[in-house]
Amino acid sequence: MTSETVFVEQCKGINGLDKVVLREVRGSSAEVYLYGGQVTSWKNDHGEELLFVSSKAPFKPPKAIRGGIPICFPQFGSHGLLEQHGFARNRFWSIDSDPPPFPTTSSNKAFVDLVLKHSEEDTRIWPHRYEFRLRVALGPGGDLMLTSRIRNMNTDGKAFTFTFAYHNYFSVSDISEVRIEGLETMDFLDNLQNRQRFTEQGDAITFESEVDKVYVSTPTKIAILDHERKRTLVLRKDGLPDAVVWNPWDKKAKAIPDLGDDEYKHMLCVEAAAVEKPITLKPGEEWKGRQEISAVPSSYFSGQLDPKKVFQGS
Ligand code: BG6
Repeated sequence: MTSETVFVEQCKGINGLDKVVLREVRGSSAEVYLYGGQVTSWKNDHGEELLFVSSKAPFKPPKAIRGGIPICFPQFGSHGLLEQHGFARNRFWSIDSDPPPFPTTSSNKAFVDLVLKHSEEDTRIWPHRYEFRLRVALGPGGDLMLTSRIRNMNTDGKAFTFTFAYHNYFSVSDISEVRIEGLETMDFLDNLQNRQRFTEQGDAITFESEVDKVYVSTPTKIAILDHERKRTLVLRKDGLPDAVVWNPWDKKAKAIPDLGDDEYKHMLCVEAAAVEKPITLKPGEEWKGRQEISAVPSSYFSGQLDPKKVFQGS
């Protein structure tokens, strides 16, 4: 692309839903639907899709979009009284044309600021006033950055508590050939065993059956290695201590109406989350949770979790 690159474009997506396309000069791109404030596409500078979206995703509100990066707020999973994964993923967000400044000024041109605020209807199910600001940015090298800022706007003096996740659906060549590094020896809560706590073995994580685990207090960097595609996805997170790993495998995939029977083979959810210790905000307080994902060639080898070293080829 040349100097004519349109860094940010607002247009219509599937079923006429509003979306924003972000583009960078070297050719990488991302798409964000206002419905759900949801990233549904992230492509590298060769135009290869790095996120998974189900071929059966209907893109029809009020159902959440199956794939991309749904936002789980104010509740992750069924850890509370609200609907599964909270309501942010099936609300219409707005473009925030005048967001409060970020503490660090960034030179990115491809970004969009979205905002979700309490509605009268929602206060009946979650009796709080809040402002949720989400910045989605594409770096010049194609890295995808999501920053969430959630503020308690209650005027009744009440604090509120929430859990949260960036529910990343990554596209993988073959789930049986993929491994995750960075979670070995970590403690996890197993959603398939009543959230009992276990400790992971010392080996990288591989997949041969259904997995639904919340790894707690994890390192800030996690790598997903896809040998067949010769690609490693590196997830860096800040303010999000936990990491959820989910693949429904064959039986559960068949029971999920908006997921193809065999699509579980080509997806892997590795989610940056705050689940084990819910976050509490007093009125006026703000919480920030950030993730950055990059795709690097798989010269990235085992045990080397510093992406900078990979770029330098050392
Ligand atoms: C994961 C959860 O984050 O999301 C799983 O750990 C859940 O338990 C999965 O099944 C998908 O949830 P949903 O509501 O999008 O079908």
